[in-house]
Amino acid sequence: MSSRRETGTTPTASYEADPAEVQRVLLLYSGGLDTSVMLKWIQDSYDAEVVCLTVNLGQPGEDYELIKGKAMRLGALECHVVDAREEFAREFLAPAIKANALYGGGYPLFTALGRPLIAKLAVEHARCTGCDTIAHGCTGKGNDQVRIEATVATLAPELKVIAPVRSWQMGREEEIAYAREHGIPVKGGTESAPYSIDDNLWGRSSEGRWIEDLEHAPEDDVFQLVTRPEEAPDEPELVAVEFESGVPVALNGGRLGLVELIERATELGARHGVGIIDHIEDRIVGLKVRDIYEAPAAAIILPAHQELERLVCTIHQNQFKGQLDRQWAYLVYAGLWWEPLRGDLDAYMEQVNERVSGTIGLKLYKGHARVVTRSSPNAVYDASLASFADSGGLFSQTASPGFIELFSLQSRMAWRLRNE
Ligand code: ARG
Repeated sequence: MSSRRETGTTPTASYEADPAEVQRVLLLYSGGLDTSVMLKWIQDSYDAEVVCLTVNLGQPGEDYELIKGKAMRLGALECHVVDAREEFAREFLAPAIKANALYGGGYPLFTALGRPLIAKLAVEHARCTGCDTIAHGCTGKGNDQVRIEATVATLAPELKVIAPVRSWQMGREEEIAYAREHGIPVKGGTESAPYSIDDNLWGRSSEGRWIEDLEHAPEDDVFQLVTRPEEAPDEPELVAVEFESGVPVALNGGRLGLVELIERATELGARHGVGIIDHIEDRIVGLKVRDIYEAPAAAIILPAHQELERLVCTIHQNQFKGQLDRQWAYLVYAGLWWEPLRGDLDAYMEQVNERVSGTIGLKLYKGHARVVTRSSPNAVYDASLASFADSGGLFSQTASPGFIELFSLQSRMAWRLRNE
């Protein structure tokens, strides 16, 4: 169509939209600069209608009425706001807790866990509003494009995808100029680029600016969720996390739904400076980047869960599960939430976690959450066996030398062969 502008899009993948065929777009809308510019730009460049979808995953401080109003003023046909916190907690965070999910030894995967849910909701809303295409605001350098597009292509082969930020040739300056020209409000100072933020119930990430300089220690202004440990209270605070079958169900004796429990743990951890992670990360698209994470709830709940699991599992289960945990975290990081191996691993996680019930006490103090107490009816632990004082019936100390002789047999033989 001649009225259409150059979209900069030449499809590479089968699921990418042919600009000539785009008629109605479901835009994943955050209300920020990128997706607001996209909202106008899609209408102009594709001569297409836009339906907006904003998903609430518990990111603090959002005004969804404001976002919705902005979308409608910028010409959206409809703007849907979905509160997906319960589903996020139940279907994504609970499995992550059971899998002790940390990628690269430190990242609790909050963004990676949120994307498949956001993209699944985009598919559902695209289908029920007659959209042919889904648009998102990811760049071409990150993991989020992989997670969103892999989800759409898996769940909805009939839908196409556009990623304008990846294809348009606008830098930040041009985006701001475009916004001004089209009456899109630009909030805050426009001189320096802000941090690139993503957050939800399970944590918050910051990227960009000085964070890209590996020799630059964190500046104070990056921490918007967690109190700096230097400023945290001088008195420690104890928190008891109770689990049932691997899922946290109570804090300090008070039963809470998972969403409220995570919110409460976030407050407690944030107050004590807990959950700051300065992380070098191997992205799926090959880049190595640095992220500053603030994840206070994860920094309390994950170590508590892992401790309880260690207590109720045998040495063999404990040796094995870490390997599966790592594989689970990698799959989720890599955007392969819908891959059957993830379901297979979850079956194992479920089975092991059946017995992971009990309470773990942690002491929160100036940036640390340290396990200090444990109790579980399923602990494979017998204080009288472990004690130095006396031997119980299940353990014969006189059997130990025989055990050592057999257990060390091959190692001793190998040593001798190498040293003769
Ligand atoms: N590095 C993290 C990840 O890949 C966080 C990404 C945050 N995303 C963002 N668009 N700022 O999951």
